[in-house]
Amino acid sequence: MKYENLLLKITNRILYITINRESKLNALNKLTLAELHFAVTDSLTNPLIGGIILTGSGNKAFVAGADILEFSSFNADEGGNLSREGHNKVFNVIHNCYKPIVAAINGFALGGGLELAMACHIRVASDNARLGLPEVTLGLIPGYGGTQRLTQLIGRGKALEMILTANMISANEALNIGLVNYVETPENLITKAEEILNKILSHSSTAVASAIRAVNAGLTDGKDGFEAEINEFSSCFTTPDFQEGIAAFKEKRKPMFTGIA
Ligand code: COA
Repeated sequence: MKYENLLLKITNRILYITINRESKLNALNKLTLAELHFAVTDSLTNPLIGGIILTGSGNKAFVAGADILEFSSFNADEGGNLSREGHNKVFNVIHNCYKPIVAAINGFALGGGLELAMACHIRVASDNARLGLPEVTLGLIPGYGGTQRLTQLIGRGKALEMILTANMISANEALNIGLVNYVETPENLITKAEEILNKILSHSSTAVASAIRAVNAGLTDGKDGFEAEINEFSSCFTTPDFQEGIAAFKEKRKPMFTGIA
């Protein structure tokens, strides 16, 4: 597939996805969302890819939200479809991706941009990043999972404060409330994301996938997270990685995981 709004590169098992609409602060238009859907879905079956780093082009914005001009004349049905399709095709796909995804937040992460970062598994922000959900200033609410994922990440009180005031917060404030995992200088942002991802990629990918599924199950309506954990734990015992992990422990050596399911 030829991408217009994304830059893709695979190096050492990491797929780097850069949203590349710098003149529009990387705002998520329809094409960008479609390309994100394709890139993440495609990565699942690509054996060269162990995990993903998602960032924005330039040094000003990660993503400054959904593309406001595209939905400015929408009616209720069109608005609902935009939200539902975004959930189903992009934000839930990222959230449920069993290959780990680290967001490298290199500037503004607003509205759909913060929602995109929150759908990722881990977030690293540059110290100049500004994060917020400003939808109420447009007469809207977050529509790509923000009301739910922000509440899960930082609790109801702080989430309601951010959503209702529409205040942007700094990277360090985001760190203090658990919205991002680390804050780095812009120069070190990708290096830190790589360090985290490489650590994860050194482990069993089948176990990593099981852990992501078990954690996500507890946050999914109608699923019992504890039951999911029991099932995922059980299925780990069938994997070659489990045999290898135990053998390496006994032989006092580093495991050589294959990730074969
Ligand atoms: N949708 C569409 N275009 C956007 C956008 C968005 N969410 N965010 C920024 N842009 C565009 C601007 O319209 C502008 O385009 P132009 O040069 O053709 O006029 C360009 O990106 C640069 O943005 P600009 O506003 O000039 O930069 P700034 O430094 O003055 O302000 C922000 C930066 C992030 C504060 C401001 O762009 C902003 O408030 N964006 C919208 C944030 C938002 O409400 N997001 C939630 C959407 S649901």
